[in-house]
Amino acid sequence: MTQLKDLELRVQELVTLLEASNQLNSNIEMGEVLENILLQMVQVVGAEAGTLWVLNKERQKIKAVAAYGPSAFNILNLELEMDEGIVGKVIGTGEAQLIENVASHPNWANRVDHSSGFVTKSMITVPLAVKGQVLGALQLLNKKDIAFFSEQDISLAVALANQSALALHNSQMYDELQRMLLSMIRTLAKVLDARDPYTAGHSERVAKYSLWIAEKLGFDAQSYEELYKAALLHDIGKIGIPDDILRKPGRLTNDEYTAIKKHTIIGADILSNIEPKDAMVQAIQIALSHHERLDGSGYPHGLVGEEIPFLAQIVGVADAFDAMTTARSYSAGSSFESGAEELLRCKDTLFDGKVVDAFATILQDCDYEVEQYEAQLGRGYRL
Ligand SMILES: [Fe+2]
Repeated sequence: MTQLKDLELRVQELVTLLEASNQLNSNIEMGEVLENILLQMVQVVGAEAGTLWVLNKERQKIKAVAAYGPSAFNILNLELEMDEGIVGKVIGTGEAQLIENVASHPNWANRVDHSSGFVTKSMITVPLAVKGQVLGALQLLNKKDIAFFSEQDISLAVALANQSALALHNSQMYDELQRMLLSMIRTLAKVLDARDPYTAGHSERVAKYSLWIAEKLGFDAQSYEELYKAALLHDIGKIGIPDDILRKPGRLTNDEYTAIKKHTIIGADILSNIEPKDAMVQAIQIALSHHERLDGSGYPHGLVGEEIPFLAQIVGVADAFDAMTTARSYSAGSSFESGAEELLRCKDTLFDGKVVDAFATILQDCDYEVEQYEAQLGRGYRL
C-alpha cells in the first residue's frame, strides 16, 4: 500500500472515531449513533453491506440494531439465537473472524440471507467488546471491487469496533441511567401523591397531560420528555406540608392556605439542591411557578403574563385540569368536557391561550376519552 493511501486511511479512521465520540457527547438516540458508526465503517473498509448486532442478555438474543446495504430493511431488527451463526460464534468467543467463502463455513446461518435476499460471499465479523465484555458484533459483508477482505481490513475493523463498542457501552449506560432516573422520579411522585388519597396518580396524570400539550405545540421529543420528568416533580414541595393541612377534608383557614401555598417555594428549594444545577432549571421553574396565573392572581409571587415561565404555564393548565376533573373530599370532580370548557373560559385571563387551545383540541379530538388518546398515540413512548 502506498504511503498516501495509508495516510488517507488513517485520516478517515480518525474522522470516524472523532465523529463517533462527538455523537456520543450530543446524547442523540442510540439507534442513530449506531447507524452512523456502521455507515462510516462500511465506507472506510469498502464493504457492500454491514450489520451491527447487539447482545440482549435479558432476552438471550442477538439483535440487528443497525443495517446498511441493499437488504438493510429486511435485516434490521432480525433476531438470532445466542449461539446462532458466525455472529453467535464471534460473540461467544470474543474473536474476530475473516471468512473468504461464507457458504462453505460450518457456522454460517444462511437464514439471514434467506430472509433478506442478499447473497453473502466474504465477510468480516469482529466483536464489540469493552473491558473484556462482549456487547455485540460488527459484520461487514462482501468487499467491494475485489474478491476478499484483507488482514489490513480486519485490523481496521477491529480498531473501529473497539471505538464503537465504547460508544455502545456509553449509550447503554446513558440509557440505563435515564431509565433509572425516570423510575426514581416516578416512584417519588407516586409516594408523594399517596399521602393524600384524593391525589393518587395526580403527578403522573399532570406530567402526561403536559407532555401531550408540549407535543401538540410542536416541541421536539427530547424537550417533551424533559418536561415530562420535570412535571412529575411539580408538587414535590408538598413533602414539607404537614399531613393535617394536606389531608384536611373541609375548608382551609387562611393560615392553612398560606401554608399550602408554600409547597411551591419548598419544591423549588429542594430541586435547586440537586446537581448538576443547569439540568434542574426547568424543574425548578415548574415547581415554583405552576400556580402563577396570567392576570397576576396566582402564587407565590403574583407573576404576570410572560413573567411566568412557559413550561410552568403548561404544567399549570394540566394541573388545574386534573384538579377540576378528579374527585376531592369537597367535590365529586367535573367531567373532562366541563373541565375543558372551564379552561377555555379562563383562556387569556388565567391561562395562556395557545396552551389551552392545544389541550382543548386534544380533548375534543379524542372525544374526552383520554385513555383513547393515550392508546391511539401508541408510538411506544419510552416513558
Ligand atoms: Fe401544586
